[in-house]
Amino acid sequence: MKKLLGIMTASAMAASLLAGCGGSKAAETTMAPAETTAAETTAAAAESKAETKAEAGTADLKDKKVGVCIYQFSDNFMTLFRTELENYLVEKGFSKDNIKIMDGANDQATQTNQIQNFISEGVDVLIINPVNSSSAATITDMVQSAGIPLVYINREPDADEEKRWEDNKWDVTYVGCDARQSGTFQGEIIADLGMDKIDMNGNGKVDYIMIKGDPENVDAQYRTEFSIKALEDAGLQVNKLDEQVGMWQQDEAQRLVANSLSQYGNDVEVVFCNNDAMALGALQAIEGAGRTVGKDIFLVGVDALEEACQNVLSGKQTGTVFNDHISQSHTAADAAVNYLTGAGNDHYIGCDYVKVTAENAQDILDSLK
Ligand code: BGC
Repeated sequence: MKKLLGIMTASAMAASLLAGCGGSKAAETTMAPAETTAAETTAAAAESKAETKAEAGTADLKDKKVGVCIYQFSDNFMTLFRTELENYLVEKGFSKDNIKIMDGANDQATQTNQIQNFISEGVDVLIINPVNSSSAATITDMVQSAGIPLVYINREPDADEEKRWEDNKWDVTYVGCDARQSGTFQGEIIADLGMDKIDMNGNGKVDYIMIKGDPENVDAQYRTEFSIKALEDAGLQVNKLDEQVGMWQQDEAQRLVANSLSQYGNDVEVVFCNNDAMALGALQAIEGAGRTVGKDIFLVGVDALEEACQNVLSGKQTGTVFNDHISQSHTAADAAVNYLTGAGNDHYIGCDYVKVTAENAQDILDSLK
């Protein structure tokens, strides 16, 4: 099991510093999901439902079948997430043979088939990272009518969908971080450099390019919006030179950033990437164009992939934001167990991001070992 303590402390600190963005809500829920939910199951209907389940749910976890759907196995971040999820489920007492993890291959129809198969196989609980968050209502209906509890991860369904779970007291929850916070942290990392350093062309503005993840994904939308909002909130003027969709992928980002750099040249002062995989691609393009991060351009990502943290330490990436796959995967597994034992869950279980610069990148790397 990975070390959690340092990160939880850092997260708690981050939460206490965070104004708005639901940070404290997230921290409370993450710290004590079981307690919070137990206290909340007051409605008579929910109580009797929980009692029935508690009797049935006391069976050993090793006999319980878990179906996991991942939107795409080749995604760097989701690979870390699913590996940690599987290890932790085994640690909790599930048998490895009873945990089946499917690759949605970034195709909703493929994933929907996989969910249907899981339902026919009679899995006891499902953990789903949807290909399209907008398909959540359809997925929920299918899974719910089969009477299977459902934990969504990583791609948050919209507010209307989450309200349905609550209104109907369904055993459905979402485990993830608030992407607004990660965007804010990216913007703050850049703003903290100070305008003297950032404004290399002297036009009084932060000239930037934005490389986005899948635009359907709320993480991509919020990171794009809130990174720039943080610059503006710090009183800086901004100038968007280019905004492109890199679909979370390194090679695509490399291509896009190379294009932008050849078009806008030395005017590009900051490259924002919605994740680190794309920041790694951006770095290749930056180096290919003969530019140097920290000297004549700045670069930020999100996730704190190992390679990105190493780059932050050596100065090749200005900063990143730790997307805590350890706490998210453990919390998702714990939520699955809570459904199986009848303890139940809140309908939203949050966690906190952590800002990563050269100062703490080594601590983050150490905590991941
Ligand atoms: C991560 C990305 C990842 C995406 C997948 C985001 O939270 O930051 O790296 O590609 O989730 O949905």
